[in-house]
Amino acid sequence: MMNRKGAEFPSNLHILPLDVTDEGSIQQAANQVQQQHGGGLDLLINCAGILHPSGRGETSLRDVSSQKGTGAFGQHASNKQTHTAVMANISAKVGSTTDNGLGGWYSYRMSKCALNMATKNLSIELGRGRNKVICVSLHPGTVDTDLSRPYHKNVPGDKLFSTERSVQYLMDIVNGLTMQHTGKFFTWEGKEMPF
Ligand SMILES: NC(=O)c1ccc[n+]([C@@H]2O[C@H](COP(=O)([O-])OP(=O)(O)OC[C@H]3O[C@@H](n4cnc5c(N)ncnc54)[C@H](OP(=O)(O)O)[C@@H]3O)[C@@H](O)[C@H]2O)c1
Repeated sequence: MMNRKGAEFPSNLHILPLDVTDEGSIQQAANQVQQQHGGGLDLLINCAGILHPSGRGETSLRDVSSQKGTGAFGQHASNKQTHTAVMANISAKVGSTTDNGLGGWYSYRMSKCALNMATKNLSIELGRGRNKVICVSLHPGTVDTDLSRPYHKNVPGDKLFSTERSVQYLMDIVNGLTMQHTGKFFTWEGKEMPF
């Protein structure tokens, strides 16, 4: 576990169960956080995601069926916020409508596009008042995880990041965030992505 200044606090790591598609589970986790850390959160990274239940992106319409996507839990995260904090929604470049030149991956693109809209909406709502929350969407690069494994053979070695490398890039961005950045979408290099 790292704070926004990059200092490590492994003894402060508390693992709580949370299913982002289950409202009760989110409420329960939010309550536990509130009880253990009365002041609320400094940093929330909304990272849960799936490419598709099959493990592969849908390349054509016939692959598409109705499935639940990533839920936004900013509502619970912002309850009783007592200080300026950061909410980082882990999005993906393929969630950019402007950048979409290839098509395919219907549900994943649509879910990240919706997540980006949640970032924008939350930035407006949580930017009001005294205790603001800086809300951003982040693209972590192509990262060596189970989610992207079916596509690794098409990715040049230097473009496939270890999780540690990607987290370091993203934490560098998070540590430099101010209210000027809220509502925006950044890649791992700190480049602003169009929605
Ligand atoms: N890997 C890439 O190249 C890449 C590129 C762009 C964006 N991303 C994004 O990065 C994020 C992390 O993905 P990853 O690459 O690290 O994939 P991953 O290794 O498959 O991790 C996905 C995580 O999401 C969690 N999750 C899935 N459904 C959930 C639910 N209903 N409630 C709570 N947690 C849930 C999983 O938890 P369990 O293990 O408990 O199921 C797992 O920890 C995702 O949002 C993904 O879209 C990844």
